[in-house]
Amino acid sequence: MDIHALQQIVHKTRDARRKQTIPKFSPADRDQLIHKYHPDFRANAYRPITFGPNKGDKTVIELATLLEGDSSIQDHADLTAQYTCDVLVIGGGGAGCAAALHAHGAGVKTILATKLRLGDSNSVMAQGGMQISVAPEDSPVTHFIDTLKGGHMQNDHALLKVMVEDGPAIAKWLLELGVLFDRQADGNLHVKKGGGSSKPRLLTCSDYTGLEIMRVLKDEVINQKIQLLEFAAAIELLSDEAGNCTGAIFKDLDNQRHVVVAAKSVILATGGIGRLHIQGFPTSNHYGATGDGLCLAYRMGAKLAHIDTFQYHPSGAVYPEQLIGALVTEGIRSEGGHLVNAKGDRFVNELDTRDVVSSSIIRECEEGRGIRTMSGRVGVWLDTPLLDAEHGPGTVEKHFPAMMLQFERFGIDISKDPVLIYPTLHYQNGGVKIDTNSETNVQNLFVAGEASGGLHGRNRLMGNSLLDLMVFGKRSGLTAAARANTTKHGALTLKHVQRFRAEAKKHGNTGSVISPMILPAYTRKVG
Ligand code: FUM
Repeated sequence: MDIHALQQIVHKTRDARRKQTIPKFSPADRDQLIHKYHPDFRANAYRPITFGPNKGDKTVIELATLLEGDSSIQDHADLTAQYTCDVLVIGGGGAGCAAALHAHGAGVKTILATKLRLGDSNSVMAQGGMQISVAPEDSPVTHFIDTLKGGHMQNDHALLKVMVEDGPAIAKWLLELGVLFDRQADGNLHVKKGGGSSKPRLLTCSDYTGLEIMRVLKDEVINQKIQLLEFAAAIELLSDEAGNCTGAIFKDLDNQRHVVVAAKSVILATGGIGRLHIQGFPTSNHYGATGDGLCLAYRMGAKLAHIDTFQYHPSGAVYPEQLIGALVTEGIRSEGGHLVNAKGDRFVNELDTRDVVSSSIIRECEEGRGIRTMSGRVGVWLDTPLLDAEHGPGTVEKHFPAMMLQFERFGIDISKDPVLIYPTLHYQNGGVKIDTNSETNVQNLFVAGEASGGLHGRNRLMGNSLLDLMVFGKRSGLTAAARANTTKHGALTLKHVQRFRAEAKKHGNTGSVISPMILPAYTRKVG
């Protein structure tokens, strides 16, 4: 059947569904559902890591293979530094820009190196908003409790405490820099409610919040004349005799030459791993999201946390084919959009936590209540026209302009027709273990943003990522800058790579896989 014929059930059942309330799952039902259907619980997708700081811990096979991968740098490589700085930030997304701006603002020589262009990141693609407790009826404590519940009580309490407490100051900083958050008619900041949150807490810029924040941060990095290395892919870190981090080696993607940067401290802000397409999932992530920072930090001896848990965002596009995996913001469900199966029924509270909603969608599809496209893909409907029916004509267009445009390019009007969706690989809940200043167990090595782990527990709430980036970008930048005043540049060696290779050999690892991956496996090789 063609897609328009399949959509009719959504139109036909809309009025009846508007009168229905959907019962909430009990905690036991939610647990059972997640264990049965969530991809984190597919045992055959996982294996233990065979050596290194997380030896014996299980993670997905795709990541385990890269973590155990060999460096592309040979022992005898020339390590003469072309650049020297106090703070080297690796990654040009939200966390990287925030870190660089704060380090530079503290008066130290800062370099920001990024694999693609400044801003190419998941941050720029963030749609739904940024959770900060600014509303009078809200508080950091409530934000803390919501996040802890969403994370299945597995969140690192110390990290979570500083994130929620630092939030209001971050909002002030962004407003002062010029971020145009949505406002109410009286001029106060407008806040929206996200899944799993007890209070409206999302600061938004329509459905292009990340783009707006990054517009301002990118401008600021350029205005502050922070030294930029673009198209510079980090391929190895450097260490001194004591194992402290002292810099990094980059591959210049324009000419394939190596560039060595000496630094007193290094901040990894390299983002997520969606482009590993773990378990064959499509992804909402940007092209460069290949988990480079995890591999670099791991080889250096940094411990990882919660690397067995990933976020599959409930609403990734299934149709048209050109948009497979692209994010359809949770904001649509926050405004009342129903999820509807092939029989025209709702099957979950759309504002439950993402792991529960995704598991329910997978259950519907596995039990034959999904909708199959002509190319054989399966999904369920997100009733977007319901928003115009509920809140008045023009609601979808006014509140979700980016989403409208994304589909309009393929001749689809989502204010008139529902969208077919299925979970898409969106976020790595875990990452490199950090303290409240974003420092790892490796001296002078910091990690900020999605590459770090522990803060979000086993399931991140909507809008907590943008705040995470800003809070830990700032904390890493300030701590690394302060460190510059008490630290001398260390020797530039590859001792940690030698140690890692010896360990790999002991465990029968032949070094046939090189990491980091840099670009997705399906990248067309040029030249
Ligand atoms: O659905 C969304 O707009 C995604 C937001 C987030 O992951 O924080």
